[in-house]
Amino acid sequence: MADTLSIVDNRTGKKYELPIHDGTVRAMDLRQIKTGPEDFGLMTYDPAFMNTASCRSAITYIDGDKGILLYRGYPIEQLAEHSDYLETAYLLLFGELPTTVQLQAWTREISLHTMVHENIKKLMEGFQYDAHPMGIFLSTVGALSTFYPDARQVHDRAARMHQTVRLIAKVPTIAAYAYRHSIGRPYVYPDNELSFAGNFLNMLFKMTELKYQSNPVLTRALDVLFILHADHEQNCSTSAMRNIGSSHVDPYSALAGAAAALYGPLHGGANEAVLRMLNEIGSVSKVPEFIKRVKSGDGSRLMGFGHRVYKSYDPRAKVIKRTADLVFSITGKNPLLDIALELERIALEDEYFVSRKLYPNVDFYSGLIYQAMGFPVEMFPVLFAIPRTVGWIAQWEEMLLDSEQKIARPRQIYVGPQPRDYVPAEKRS
Ligand code: CMC
Repeated sequence: MADTLSIVDNRTGKKYELPIHDGTVRAMDLRQIKTGPEDFGLMTYDPAFMNTASCRSAITYIDGDKGILLYRGYPIEQLAEHSDYLETAYLLLFGELPTTVQLQAWTREISLHTMVHENIKKLMEGFQYDAHPMGIFLSTVGALSTFYPDARQVHDRAARMHQTVRLIAKVPTIAAYAYRHSIGRPYVYPDNELSFAGNFLNMLFKMTELKYQSNPVLTRALDVLFILHADHEQNCSTSAMRNIGSSHVDPYSALAGAAAALYGPLHGGANEAVLRMLNEIGSVSKVPEFIKRVKSGDGSRLMGFGHRVYKSYDPRAKVIKRTADLVFSITGKNPLLDIALELERIALEDEYFVSRKLYPNVDFYSGLIYQAMGFPVEMFPVLFAIPRTVGWIAQWEEMLLDSEQKIARPRQIYVGPQPRDYVPAEKRS
């Protein structure tokens, strides 16, 4: 059997044979299908990219039907159990797990870049006292481009590497400063003797003690959450990173755009929305009423449920559910957990959710953990952005090195008015 697709254009009777590679046909191969020389050629129409691959990628693999997630071939469950965030970041960026020596050097390199310029601090001080930390985060990340003009050299490998290290190292510092700003506490400088997650907790929660020591179970839980959120192939924010980066702008500006995409309630803002939803429901007895509302089609959604790619249980949600038990053994159970469990129980049996293959996603339980650890809901999308930074950079780098990529520029189907003459204001009815 030939790996080709035969197409008959019934408008002209002409037959075309298109090659099929990796289960796809190239949209540009359709352009030859024309009704005449004046015809532009056939295009595909795919709002929201429901069935369009925009790149070839070797970073992350998802099988949405089977609930499989692999980073560079390694199952997410194994990484969550055995790896830590910085090792996983190395894997995503460089394609292989580091040797002991490589990991030590990488960890040290990151820890040497955790501080931000004092002017960044001043810039952050300018935000309103009640500014949303995600707004502060994405603005500040964008502002980093003005501090590192070498970041514009996106075709220089060494310059790219420099920004990569800076970004991974500095996003926790910026995130922590955004949090401290929002609660009116002084910023805490990084402590390079601590682990990546331990230092982040230090910058968030240190008060007057000389040395901050985070609880090892909570530190590990945060690190596992970072691993789970590190990459997720071509999602909304990653596509934004690639799209913006395809104009060859510096990575800080591109990453600010990606973070903005993540901020939305349908993406990284969903864990914040889950907590608001659970609070709004208020008690286990009100769950059936809420489910009824979601099913009525009044626009309410069961936040933390459903996914464009996963049509089974999100493998990250399974790990998070287990991690939640560990966290609650230290912090005490989050009172909203019972509402979440009841929502999940009903939804997994209900025809509406079953027929639409709606299962808990990564955001359903992560907010409960974050809240139990003492984070306000506004910090949730920021906690997502910290680890996703490495995914964004790995995908950006891959895009820049891909000789098939050009500036991203979709086509449209124009549905507006045909050409018409300008009408002076006094003659308009
Ligand atoms: N609650 C109720 N109904 C839903 C939900 C939900 N959470 N998600 C999808 N549906 C329904 C939707 O109404 C539609 O029904 P119908 O066919 O009758 O019109 C059907 O399921 C298909 O939904 P869709 O909106 O076409 O699916 P999508 O692939 O465009 O959307 C999604 C994916 C994640 C945006 C959506 O499931 C959603 O809004 N979920 C809640 C928000 C959320 O948890 N987002 C986090 C995603 S995971 C982390 C991340 O990627 O950032």
